[in-house]
Amino acid sequence: NRPIAIAPSILSADFSRLGEEVETVARAGADWIHLDVMDGHFVPNITFGPGIVKSIRNRTDKVFDCHLMIAPADPYLGAFADAGCDILTVHAEAGPHLHRSLQAIRGLGIKAGVSLNPATPVSAIEHVVDDLDLILVMTVNPGFGGQAFIPAMLEKIRQVKALVGDRPIDIEVDGGVTPANAQVIAAAGANILVAGSAVFKGNSEETYRANISAIRAA
Ligand code: DX5
Ligand code: ZN
Repeated sequence: NRPIAIAPSILSADFSRLGEEVETVARAGADWIHLDVMDGHFVPNITFGPGIVKSIRNRTDKVFDCHLMIAPADPYLGAFADAGCDILTVHAEAGPHLHRSLQAIRGLGIKAGVSLNPATPVSAIEHVVDDLDLILVMTVNPGFGGQAFIPAMLEKIRQVKALVGDRPIDIEVDGGVTPANAQVIAAAGANILVAGSAVFKGNSEETYRANISAIRAA
């Protein structure tokens, strides 16, 4: 089994102090930094683009795990790679040419991920599994932080785990992760846990550290 890592989503950070927030959450024990990019088209919310990613890149050397909730994604892959993302995850639902997108990401010299919305079956990625470094199972409908985990997604995580087998692929879960459900999520096969509101509640390095520790302990 691959090592467990916790990836705080800066969607729940204070955007007016984004650089500081990234430094603080990194010091507080984040393994990766999860970056939620939204376009107001693929999802009903808008966040930030490659310029913002680039501006915070020098605040930490943690892995920048970039979740692209944008359609189309292909025209922007190069800009996000140049901004310093280590992993680019596109949505299976975001375009008709998923295989092409994954090849393009790996062609930029970084890791390629694919994300599945709650209603999308695991079979959607069956034929691209050898082109992947990461599979992101959405456990809420993407667009907003602070939503409740959808319990039916536990079975999907198990199915992804079975599909992956012993390939070196990370299984990431995003949406509604808390200390109360982290254990069952990891037991189902996930090794990367994204958490936004559960990490960024409270407003100090100490609370962020306690929040991250609580998820890790679970
Ligand atoms: C949802 C985003 C998530 C979100 C998670 O569209 O992809 O990364 O920020 O937030 P919480 O942990 O609050 O559900
Ligand atoms: Zn995300």
